[in-house]
Amino acid sequence: MYPIKRNRRLRTNQAIRSLVRETIISPNDFLVPLFVVEGKGVKEEIASMPNYYRYSLDLLQEEVKELWKLGLKSVLLFVKVPDNLKDNKGTEAINPDGLMQRAIKAVKNACPEMLVMTDVALDPYSVYGHDGIIENGKVINDESVEVLTEMSVSHIEAGADFVAPSDMMDGRILSIREAFEDREYTDAGIMSYSAKYASAFYGPFRDALDSAPVDSQDIPKDKKSYQMDYANRFEAIRETEMDIDEGADIVMVKPGLCYLDIVREIKNEVDVPVAVYQVSGEYAMLKAAAEKGWLDHDAVMMEQITAIKRAGADIIASYFAKDVVKLLNQ
Ligand code: PBG
Repeated sequence: MYPIKRNRRLRTNQAIRSLVRETIISPNDFLVPLFVVEGKGVKEEIASMPNYYRYSLDLLQEEVKELWKLGLKSVLLFVKVPDNLKDNKGTEAINPDGLMQRAIKAVKNACPEMLVMTDVALDPYSVYGHDGIIENGKVINDESVEVLTEMSVSHIEAGADFVAPSDMMDGRILSIREAFEDREYTDAGIMSYSAKYASAFYGPFRDALDSAPVDSQDIPKDKKSYQMDYANRFEAIRETEMDIDEGADIVMVKPGLCYLDIVREIKNEVDVPVAVYQVSGEYAMLKAAAEKGWLDHDAVMMEQITAIKRAGADIIASYFAKDVVKLLNQ
């Protein structure tokens, strides 16, 4: 009794495997996160993110030109704010001449067609390292939304194409969308971090921006009062549908690998593009294991990226973007 149906026929050699491959990775899939610092000629490696850097504006311009040549056409900007400019209300976040606002212009000057998205949350600007304003030991929602809205307007005025609110306050997408419409910024896009979990995988990112919640008695030590509980699934759908109703153009699930079930579920549920953020801790884990010689860096990287896309990601924000594209070009 031999099998008549033999699935291995479609795996016999490289040619047939290529022919039947369902998920193809290309440079068009990626959004490249970039970290920006003050200064000139600065390219600092982030300790917990080997081979990933913070750039001053001049070297940021070189970097985006290189990305463009590789076919990477979208960036997501984050800034490291000097301590003396941090306060509770994120005042510096709406400075028209702040680092983010200058970074947007620097990228557009170096590479006018590069799509520029900006992170919107108060944490890099907050003395307390929280995404919103603190009052009586709590992150307050509505006042935070006001600042986040002003911040979003300021990014669009500086030339950003999309804002990416990562703060998880309620109602911020509606508030930002209304502010854009009021000003007739009709082309300004919103990529909402919709299902953003309170994850332990953000550690290296907080090193990169020096933005971790401060360790102090009256300050919440984590972000669990606004980011989602990782045990929850229905809540992710609820959050995502609300953001779409409020005016989001793209929704996001974050982190990536541990949340691919959520990605698939949301992809099946909604009809806007779904982005996935493969976060700093995911990057750090693979770099560390590869450094020890325990994992094959490139093979595992491609497997992970392909899995994220297979799960339903239309867009992948990843620190591996450049490595992947270089590998594809080989
Ligand atoms: C800011 C923000 C964070 C990340 C993206 N935007 C950190 C956080 O929420 O604490 C994490 C990205 C990463 O870990 O790569 N709100």
